[in-house]
Amino acid sequence: MAYLELLDIHKNFGSAQVVRGVDLAIEQGEFIVFVGPSGCGKSTLLRLVAGLESISSGRLQLDGRDITHAPSAQRDLAMVFQSYALYPHMSVHDNMSFALRLAGVPRDEIRRKVGHAADTLNLTPYLDRRPGELSGGQRQRVAIGRAIVRAPKVFLFDEPLSNLDAALRGNTRVEILKLHKALGATTIYVTHDQVEAMTLADRVVVLRDGGIEQVGSPLQLYDRPANLFVAGFIGTPSMNLIAAGAVPAFGAAAHGRLPADGTLGIRPESLRVADRDAPGCVAGRVELVEALGADTLVHVDVGGVQLIARQSGRLPAAAGDTVGLVLEDASRLHLFDREGRVLAAH
Ligand SMILES: Nc1ncnc2c1ncn2[C@@H]1O[C@H](COP(=O)(O)OP(=O)(O)OP(=O)(O)O)[C@@H](O)[C@H]1O
Ligand SMILES: [Mg+2]
Repeated sequence: MAYLELLDIHKNFGSAQVVRGVDLAIEQGEFIVFVGPSGCGKSTLLRLVAGLESISSGRLQLDGRDITHAPSAQRDLAMVFQSYALYPHMSVHDNMSFALRLAGVPRDEIRRKVGHAADTLNLTPYLDRRPGELSGGQRQRVAIGRAIVRAPKVFLFDEPLSNLDAALRGNTRVEILKLHKALGATTIYVTHDQVEAMTLADRVVVLRDGGIEQVGSPLQLYDRPANLFVAGFIGTPSMNLIAAGAVPAFGAAAHGRLPADGTLGIRPESLRVADRDAPGCVAGRVELVEALGADTLVHVDVGGVQLIARQSGRLPAAAGDTVGLVLEDASRLHLFDREGRVLAAH
C-alpha cells in the first residue's frame, strides 16, 4: 500500500464539480508536483488532503490510516501557503514555535527544534525579528520553518514562491530541494512555474478540469506526453502542434502513421534553422527572433502555420528572412489521433 493514497476523490461546490474522481498513490519520501491551468482544482485538491475542505466522496489514506474525515489538526500534515500567514506581532522564534507551544511541548525540546529548523533555513540571525523586518524570501522561509518544526508526515505547499521575485524564487527553490533531500519528507507542491515543476518533482501530476491528465517523471511527461493537452502544457515554448497535412513534408516523416485527422507534435529544439535551399528543409518566413543569450527562438511562418524553432547559441536570421526548417530527428515526432491521444511518441 502506498504511503498517501487518494482514492476516487470528488469535490463539489454546489452543482460545480471541481474535483472529479482523482486517484493517486504517493510513496513515502516522494516529491509530487501538481500543475495545471488556473482553476483546474490544484489548490482544492491540496486543501482536501489537508482537511481544510470536506471531501464529497472518495477516500484518503495516510500511512495505513483512513483520514478521510479526520480533522485537519489530526492528519499529521503541514501546509505552507503563498501568503505566509505569519503572526505580525510575534518574533520569528515565536512564529516558528507557536504550534509546539500550543501542543505543550517542553521548552528545551522547542528550543532544540526551532534552533535546528532555523539553522537549516539560514534563519538563525533573524530569530528575534518580527516578520515586518524580513524580506519576502526570509518570511517564506519562516513559514517553511514553522512547518518543519512540527515534523509532519507530509508537507503541502501551495505556490509558496509566487510572491517572490525571479532571483529569490530561484534561490528558494534550490533551498526547498536541498531541504527535501535532507528531511526526506513526503511533499505535495502546487505550482504554475514549469521550472519548479521540472526541477523539484519526482513525479508531476498534470490536472485539467478537476481530473488527472497524466502522471509521470518530469522527463517522461516532456518526452512522452500522453495527449495533446499535456504536450501543449509541458515545455516552454510549447511543442509545435500541427494539423496533419498542414506541413506535408513533416507529415511525411511520420511514414503514414499519422491519421488524416490527427495532429503532429514537434518540440522547438527538434527543428533546426538552415539555409532556405538546404536539402530536406521546409521553407518559411521568419516572423520574430527572440535572442535569449544562450539560445535563440525563431518564429517561422510556413505557409500560414506558425512554428517555433529553438537553436542553441546565436543566429544571424532576422524578421523577414526566408529560412529552411529541418526536422532534426524524425524519431522525436509526436503523433496524436483525432481525440488528441498519443499514437507514438518516438
Ligand atoms: N469555496 C469555493 N466555493 C465555490 N467554488 C470554489 C471554491 N473554491 C474553489 N472553487 C472553484 O473551484 C475551481 C478550482 O479552484 P482551485 O482554487 O482549486 O483552482 P487552482 O487550480 O488552484 O487555480 P489557481 O492556479 O488559479 O490557483 C475554480 O473554478 C474555483 O472557482
Ligand atoms: Mg490555486
